[in-house]
Amino acid sequence: MAITSDARLDTAERTGIGLRLPHIAEVVATRPHVGWLEIHPENFLANPHGLESLTDLAREYPVSVHTVGISIGSADGIDRDHLIRLRGLVDRLNPVLVSGHLAWSTVGGAYLNDLLPLPYTAETLRVVVAHLAEVQDALGRAYVIENPSWYVSLATSTMTELDFLHALVDESGCRLLCDVSNVHLSGHNMGYDPYRFIDEFPSDSVAELHLGGFTPEHDDATPGETVLVDTHAHAVAEPAWQLYAHALRRFGPRPTIIEWDNDLPPLAVLIEEAAQADRIREATREDRHAHAG
Ligand SMILES: [Fe+2]
Repeated sequence: MAITSDARLDTAERTGIGLRLPHIAEVVATRPHVGWLEIHPENFLANPHGLESLTDLAREYPVSVHTVGISIGSADGIDRDHLIRLRGLVDRLNPVLVSGHLAWSTVGGAYLNDLLPLPYTAETLRVVVAHLAEVQDALGRAYVIENPSWYVSLATSTMTELDFLHALVDESGCRLLCDVSNVHLSGHNMGYDPYRFIDEFPSDSVAELHLGGFTPEHDDATPGETVLVDTHAHAVAEPAWQLYAHALRRFGPRPTIIEWDNDLPPLAVLIEEAAQADRIREATREDRHAHAG
């Protein structure tokens, strides 16, 4: 049965959290004061008990469906069976957003346990725009695209990520999920200025922001250097909070999710991270008003 939206909060007014399976029972029992919940549909497609709890929560919280299995950039095409299963889930939950990564993760019918980078070329743009239309037709709703994290540059790319995102928005009319932590860590790993990246991001198209923790590791390719790995296994780092404040000053308040997928902390830690994002949003709102005045 579809969920009505009567009890929905304004997702831009209170930060939400990524809801992972170990926290579901506590969220059902305690109904924490967070703005919304984002789930990975792949955790629920073969999990009737979890889906029952999630359906219950969707009556009270706005829910966002954030896919990891669509592989929008795959040269093989989109898995139609997965799309049909996903359509069933979104019809049941009536999510406020459905999103996925600008990446590929399947080849020859096999699912790779990773979100792999795409070369930014005219050919990739054509593939992604076509797949995006196919996904949106199959789901009957908009599909929001997230910027990935970067560790290596691809020699075959002929445009920058920003050029690609602008072209993607122009060609498809899609909206974007700006993962601020991905911008910070990719800026560190690839040697670009993350503030300038935010300044040049397609601002009008930003439907959502993500914040997540990363893990510094030794860079085997460049001894003595550190690479930041997008593990979602830690609290949001201070530089990412500062970049988030910058993003809010540029974009205005946008629905935000705290992502934490590995080494999950107690639920209370995630709720406090969301509260921290809310405090930053309030502070930047005052900054914006002061500048407007
Ligand atoms: Fe993300």
